[in-house]
Amino acid sequence: MVVGAFADGPLTRPAQTVDRVSKGQLSAVMKLGDLGEKAGSSLWLYKLPEIAAERVLLVSLGSREQFGDEAFRNALGGAARALAECAAQEAAVTLTELDLPGRSLEWRLQQAARTLADGLYRFDFPHAVPAVGNEAKKERRRGPRRVSLLIGETVQPEHEAAIRRGHAIADGMSLARDLGNLPGNVCHPAYLADTARSLGSEFGLDIEVLEREDMRELGMGAALAVGQASAQPCKFIVMQHAGGGSARPIVLIGKGVTFDTGGISLKPGANMDEMKFDMCGAASVFGAMKTIARLRLPMNVVGIVPAVENMPGGNATRPGDVVTSMSGQTIEILNTDAEGRLALADALTYAERFDPACVVDIATLTGACVIALGNLTSGLFANDDALADELLRCGSESGDRAWRLPMFDEYQDQLKSNFADMSNLGGRPAGAITAACFLGRFARGYKWAHLDIAGTNAVSGERKGATGRPVPLLTEFLLGRASRAAQRAA
Ligand code: BES
Ligand code: MN
Ligand code: ZN
Repeated sequence: MVVGAFADGPLTRPAQTVDRVSKGQLSAVMKLGDLGEKAGSSLWLYKLPEIAAERVLLVSLGSREQFGDEAFRNALGGAARALAECAAQEAAVTLTELDLPGRSLEWRLQQAARTLADGLYRFDFPHAVPAVGNEAKKERRRGPRRVSLLIGETVQPEHEAAIRRGHAIADGMSLARDLGNLPGNVCHPAYLADTARSLGSEFGLDIEVLEREDMRELGMGAALAVGQASAQPCKFIVMQHAGGGSARPIVLIGKGVTFDTGGISLKPGANMDEMKFDMCGAASVFGAMKTIARLRLPMNVVGIVPAVENMPGGNATRPGDVVTSMSGQTIEILNTDAEGRLALADALTYAERFDPACVVDIATLTGACVIALGNLTSGLFANDDALADELLRCGSESGDRAWRLPMFDEYQDQLKSNFADMSNLGGRPAGAITAACFLGRFARGYKWAHLDIAGTNAVSGERKGATGRPVPLLTEFLLGRASRAAQRAA
């Protein structure tokens, strides 16, 4: 059983109950002062008198004063971390039983379900991939098989729906994290295409995979230039969730560079392994598509992934090469490491055929965005203020935050080329912005937003791995659109 307490004293209602039944054991522990001040730190208490649970996990909510969304999620994340390491088969969590200003029980249940399930995520490679790993060596998994959320009132259908949503979002995040964490020799463009096909057969998504020849026929000279030296052929993946009748679709586009060596503009060696994460934009589109398909949201959503591997080689693009994009605009490729924008440019043009309500692209696009916003916040750019505001709001609702950066016209000057309509390189100043300005030249004729997730998609260091972001933000956005459409229809 998991119960919460504020570091500076008061127990939550469920903790008070445990305290009363166990004749003051919890308050005695609190008096010892061992419970950490940080929300999410925890203590295991064993065999409390008169308590049926074998173990009670006492979780810190941080200080009463500073309690808010962030501390709430940290407490749940901490609980999940502790549960993941214990041998208990079942857990009952009471952390949604507290007052959080402005947050309904439904919101708390959805967030709790998501945060707990995501906190119990484990990457199963190589066991998960029979071609590489040995299925037989699979270790016994720790962590509970089942987690229940206990609430202090009669369960209503809305409560169950909130938990289902949170669980489906965590499931989408888990797919995004798996795809991100898989090594580049496994997760190549064809692997992403196969993943789309299996999502298609499991959830009834309509899947189309364009091959290199199809891309050539469509004139996708920009996307093809990125993948042309790779032994892994480019794939252009289109996934459609059709739940909204004749409504205009929302189009999500994810950068799917399955490994980014930089190409002839080769990256330095240090940490280059982390460029396997350069398809995390694509992974977040897969994750969001899985979530909405599982929830059968009554809306139309198209997911597009240009999947390419950026390699050097005898057939590679040279700095100075000029290519023609599907839009007809020509591009001088001054740096082959600015490849994401090339792949996205043709996807943005392709999106026009869906007559979209709006287009959101998601990309690990620039190191400059990491310098600007660090690893906490995704960069947001848009050609439409209402769409930008909506996405910002979804970021704070879901705790998967973004911040808007400008796209003033004057920045476009940095993309001038002597030999083509534009260059793919904007120079060092405002690198995240000039990359967005480049994309903006292809996002014509519809409302468009761009999320630069280069800092938020993965963490480095001891806990290296994909985060599953921005699946929470994207699904918040899609859930909101779907429920407003349903309200209008009613
Ligand atoms: N995939 C990288 C961006 C990136 C950098 C993602 C660090 C995550 C962490 C992208 O393709 C890239 O190489 N961008 C260049 C652009 C530059 C050449 C204009 C960059 O940011 O250095
Ligand atoms: Mn690059
Ligand atoms: Zn890249």
